[in-house]
Amino acid sequence: MINLAILISGRGSNMKSILSSITSGEIKNVNPRVVISNNRDAAGLSIASKEYDIPTSLILPNGKKGWDYDKHLDSVLNLHGVLPSDGLICLAGYMKIISSEFVNKYKFRIMNIHPALLPSFKGLHAQKQALDYGVKITGCTVHFVDEGVDSGPIILQEPVKIYSKDTENEISKRILELEHKLYPKAIKLFAENKLKIVGRKVIVTNDE
Ligand code: GAR
Repeated sequence: MINLAILISGRGSNMKSILSSITSGEIKNVNPRVVISNNRDAAGLSIASKEYDIPTSLILPNGKKGWDYDKHLDSVLNLHGVLPSDGLICLAGYMKIISSEFVNKYKFRIMNIHPALLPSFKGLHAQKQALDYGVKITGCTVHFVDEGVDSGPIILQEPVKIYSKDTENEISKRILELEHKLYPKAIKLFAENKLKIVGRKVIVTNDE
């Protein structure tokens, strides 16, 4: 059984899609243990506790960065049974940089979703970056987290077309719809032991 923690900073719609895929039985062998936020206004916190009955934890940074903050995160995870040996940590709109100490402790057990086709448009406002650049296709990426920003081994990607009349809002909406399918799919593959990491590549063993 994999013990799952979801880290959020805001709305939590990806968190919700993950939790509902677990509740529906589409993802098996994953036990959601805790939802953690660094932001007290994260709407996802009350969705997790009220709609899914998952324990939540608010860890305010109070100026703490790097491992100084992440060691608290680590102890809350451990308290909820999420350990480096059997845990999975999903960043879902978590807007805080993770320290290299934390990444190394949970090596290849931290996933993130990013609203662009990495390695293009890393960092904040990826949808706006894509629109401003004038690309015709963008999308979303689920990847393992390494020590860089949005640079870890790519698990799954899905493309989204950009039309000339598109606004940032419209693109974001279309990308988000795909994110809600892609993230549960990646977690399911992880839980079924179908992801093999070779160098910086993730081999999906039942890839069509
Ligand atoms: C999602 O679009 C996610 O890809 C993005 O934040 C949004 C969170 O939405 N993440 C990043 O930009 C990380 N660099 P949600 O809170 O509704 O899941």
